Formats: sequence, C-alpha cells, structure tokens
Amino acid sequence: MMEKIRLNNINVAYEDQGTGPVVVLIHGYPFNRSMWAEQLLELAINRRVITLDLRGHGDSSISAGVATMSQMAEDVCALMDANGIERATIGGLSMGGYVTLAFYHLFPDRVENLLLADTRAQADTEEGKAARAEQAKKILAEGMAPIADMMLPKLLSPETVSKSPDVVKRVRDMILRTSPEGAVAALRAMAEREDHTELLSRIKVPTLIVVGAKDPITPVADSEKMHERIAKSKLVIIENASHVSNIEQPEQFNHAVKEFLDF
Ligand code: MLT
Repeated sequence: MMEKIRLNNINVAYEDQGTGPVVVLIHGYPFNRSMWAEQLLELAINRRVITLDLRGHGDSSISAGVATMSQMAEDVCALMDANGIERATIGGLSMGGYVTLAFYHLFPDRVENLLLADTRAQADTEEGKAARAEQAKKILAEGMAPIADMMLPKLLSPETVSKSPDVVKRVRDMILRTSPEGAVAALRAMAEREDHTELLSRIKVPTLIVVGAKDPITPVADSEKMHERIAKSKLVIIENASHVSNIEQPEQFNHAVKEFLDF
C-alpha cells in the first residue's frame, strides 16, 4: 500500500510492510519502487521492508535542478527519522547503490548492513558524463520512449528479452512512467556524483554485493573491486541476469539476500 509523506520540501511515496529489523530498498534509474515488488513480498515475511520513490521518480515529487545522490540519501534518512527508524539494512540497485554509498558516507551510524546490487563505487568517466548529457538532451526533445528502447537490451539479458515479454513490458512501462524532468535531474546528479572508492575500505558493516553475470552497465569487475575493498563483504553473481538482476532472477536474488540477512 502506498504511503506519502512530506519531507525535505518534497512529497515522498513509499511502502512500508512487515515487522522486525528494517530493510530499506532504493531503486535505480529511471525506475521506481515497483522494481522491488518480489523482494518486498518475500522479505516482509520477517523483516520490516521500506521501498521508496526517489525524488523525480514514481509517485514522489520532482524537484527542480539537480537531485544529488547526497540529497537522495538525505531523503532516505529523513524517511527513516519520520518513521522512528534508527538503523536499517540499506540496499540499492545501480543508481540506488550510488545513493546507498552516499548514505553510508553521510550516516554510517544509521547502517546495520549494506546491499550493493549491480552498482559501482567509481564516479563517471568523462565519456560517461558526455553520454549522460546526450541522453538528457534526447529525453528533453523526445521523452522517455527512445531511452527505453536504448536501455532495454542492456538492462535485460537476451534470453529474458526473447523469452519473457512480460518482464520486458514491466521494465519498459516503468521507464515510460518516469517523468522526463526527473530523469534529467537524475542524469545530471549521477554525472556529478563523487567517487566513493576510498570510502569502501572504511565500510565496517556486513555488505552483500550482488551482480548479474551479464551486466554490461555495471559489470562483474566493478563488484569484484568493491568486494576486494570492503572488509566484511560477500559477492554473489546472479546467473542468467543482466543489470536489473532482482527482476530477472528474483529467486536467486532473494535467496542471496535472505541468506545474508540470516532468515
Ligand atoms: C541505473 O540502473 O540506475 C543506471 O543505469 C546507472 C547508471 O546509469 O550509472
């Protein structure tokens, strides 16, 4: 059930299900909280699971200008404050992982465990920043449809694209629902984000790193680098999955998370 709350001058839409130790899940770009549907259902059996729409996405407000990764992390923390949550397992996929690292950087004492899925610690390269600027221009001129066409073959593996039209439709619809202004603000924020490589060796909490074996956006090598530097980390590679590994292989993904959280 969707809930809404006003914080940091925006309305934030979120879901809050189950009871017990808290798990907060942060979606990627250009998605929304619905990407976590299978995780919400299964983890809420014996955890309190919170999924939210980041500013500029889903049912949350669109804020003007750049919505930085730190601002998004502050929104997550304000949502925890408003719900009386002191510490939680904080997890995110891709851009959600960038926000998760920003969260740890800002609020390490509020983190019980980390989940870093299909993400990386490095900042964008100059080439990556230029590609984001191009993408922003295209979105402003043509909307989200060309972006969905461009991204889908990278987000999902060829097997999923050919055999699971329902999954393709779900991811496409999620992208098409994202507001162009929100997407552009997120692109600018990702281009400006800090490099968090140095932070990795300071992460003290147990960390689960998950990545699709065929992820071309944040490849396995990026996860291996995080695994090498984060002392208490475990790396799980999801077979037959590309970038949105939690949607492509929810069983493998949930199994890894449940084992990590000691269900
Ligand atoms: C995401 O899935 O959040 C984005 O593709 C990440 C990125 O573009 O760096």
